[in-house]
Amino acid sequence: MTTRDSINKFKSDPVVLLEGVAKSFVVGGRSLPILDEVSVRVGQGEFVSLIGPSGCGKSTLFNIICGLERPDRGRVILAGNENLQAVDAVSYMPQKDLLLPWRTVLDNVILAREVAGDGRDKARREAKELMPQFGLAGFENSYPAQLSGGMRQRAALMRTMLAHRNILLLDEPFGALDAITRTKMQQWLLEVWNSFRRAVFFITHDIEEAIFLSDRIYVLTPRSARVTLHLNVNLPRPRRYECVTAPDFLALKKQIMQALTPV
Ligand SMILES: Nc1ncnc2c1ncn2[C@@H]1O[C@H](COP(=O)(O)OP(=O)(O)OP(=O)(O)O)[C@@H](O)[C@H]1O
Ligand SMILES: [Mg+2]
Repeated sequence: MTTRDSINKFKSDPVVLLEGVAKSFVVGGRSLPILDEVSVRVGQGEFVSLIGPSGCGKSTLFNIICGLERPDRGRVILAGNENLQAVDAVSYMPQKDLLLPWRTVLDNVILAREVAGDGRDKARREAKELMPQFGLAGFENSYPAQLSGGMRQRAALMRTMLAHRNILLLDEPFGALDAITRTKMQQWLLEVWNSFRRAVFFITHDIEEAIFLSDRIYVLTPRSARVTLHLNVNLPRPRRYECVTAPDFLALKKQIMQALTPV
């Protein structure tokens, strides 16, 4: 897919549309503004990242999209339908992987399907077929404690993917991984995204990760957050890790760094 295609997609067909979303929390009896009029959109099949300082409200924004929190103001429209319930549209991989330690890998990855009332055997068959693509073949009957950090994240991502929703919200999925594993996981995620073609909305602190993965990037200010920069990533796909030294890549990196650390 060319960048032009992705921009056209985003213009024509947003699957996530947030307009003027604001949110405060009451902390110690006082109202603490967290999000200040945030407007973002993610197109069908697009990969969009959200970068912002720690504590600025990124996870809160995802909690709002998936209906765990209600915004004080603003609109959340999923798949163009204001009445669509998040549970029918969105699959959420929260900041902690939340694999259940007492269930095997196979039984963890089919959890969303089981909760949705799908047949367990059918979900298991489907999951077994996907195990090689997720680097988990042979580990179906292992428990999460027996997996490496990267494998745990792949299992959590597989569970998110198996929920069969068009929108994936991934909250810092690689935040706890070492640099080499992280780089491999990024390449792998692009391959998975390419074969499933779901819309991905991705939170990260890592500027290079955001550029490497994304069609577009939103940068948030410190709390109370608003969008301070919105960028198209005009780098061709498929991307190889070597592109991190390309002049276009470095120019984007500089722009984002300046937005995150204004003088
Ligand atoms: N339910 C809640 N009640 C009160 N305050 C909350 C609640 N949830 C989040 N907060 C506060 O809102 C702010 C934003 O939190 P959030 O987790 O959204 O930040 P974040 O951008 O995801 O940070 P990080 O990058 O560290 O994950 C923080 O100050 C947090 O303490
Ligand atoms: Mg967070």
